[in-house]
Amino acid sequence: MSLQVLSYTHIQEAAEFILKQIPSEPEVGLILGSGLGVLADLVEEPVTIAYESIPHFPQSTVEGHAGELLIGTIKGRTVVLMKGRFHMYEGYGPEMTAFPVRVMKAIGVKQLLVTNAAGGINMSYEAGDLMLISDHLNMTGQNPLTGANDDKLGVRFPDMSEAYSHRLRTIAKEVGARHNFTFQEGVYAGLLGPNYETPAEIRMLRALGADAVGMSTVSEVIVARHAGIEVLGISCISNMAAGILDQPLSHAEVMETAEKVKGQFLQLVLDIIPAMAE
Ligand code: HPA
Repeated sequence: MSLQVLSYTHIQEAAEFILKQIPSEPEVGLILGSGLGVLADLVEEPVTIAYESIPHFPQSTVEGHAGELLIGTIKGRTVVLMKGRFHMYEGYGPEMTAFPVRVMKAIGVKQLLVTNAAGGINMSYEAGDLMLISDHLNMTGQNPLTGANDDKLGVRFPDMSEAYSHRLRTIAKEVGARHNFTFQEGVYAGLLGPNYETPAEIRMLRALGADAVGMSTVSEVIVARHAGIEVLGISCISNMAAGILDQPLSHAEVMETAEKVKGQFLQLVLDIIPAMAE
């Protein structure tokens, strides 16, 4: 039950287990979306910790993908990277998908970079674009903060007026400019999934102000903000959303686009990470 999972003691036990194995506290947390996990290969001198060995940590359900945390450095900054992430459509409650973010906070993380694959709703977008998330719509019908609030973790009614840091978006845009690259910037609608949306749902989301749609990120970001972590979110527009082009959506297409943009994505992220510190 959720209150159990998110108890302060459970988070501390998981954090202490990790801290015993690493030489220094990570400052930046990285959660990477479908096909964008390649950054894991660039973490230097990583300490690898299997999710299954961490007390109270959720376990990956995807076969052949034992989840693990990598703690090491990228361009001189100590980072913790989640290799494997938890989605609510897998059956995890919102508090379980966000538990790793609580643990990140407890081991020292101050800034979080979260990326995802998303369908483009804004008609001016194209598959392959990268979108800085300016804000989100939580359309999952769930919230990781329901239940009793522990004031040690954050306030009962957290402010979400700058869920996605203006400062970090400015840094990302400056890095983009140095690479002659322009990000899109827009609102991410997070749905439960796992089916892709209907064309009618996409028209509804557009009317509500969404520029892109996906099945992750919102619960992690809600918990990060509750915990006082500064967030940068980047969506890889892997396909145009349902009903826009005359073709069905598929996971294969999502992975194919991620494969195409990953070189560009890596170059940008490698320069953004060292610039994220306050
Ligand atoms: N909808 C929802 N999630 C997604 C999509 C989409 O079109 N593309 C990648 N993730």
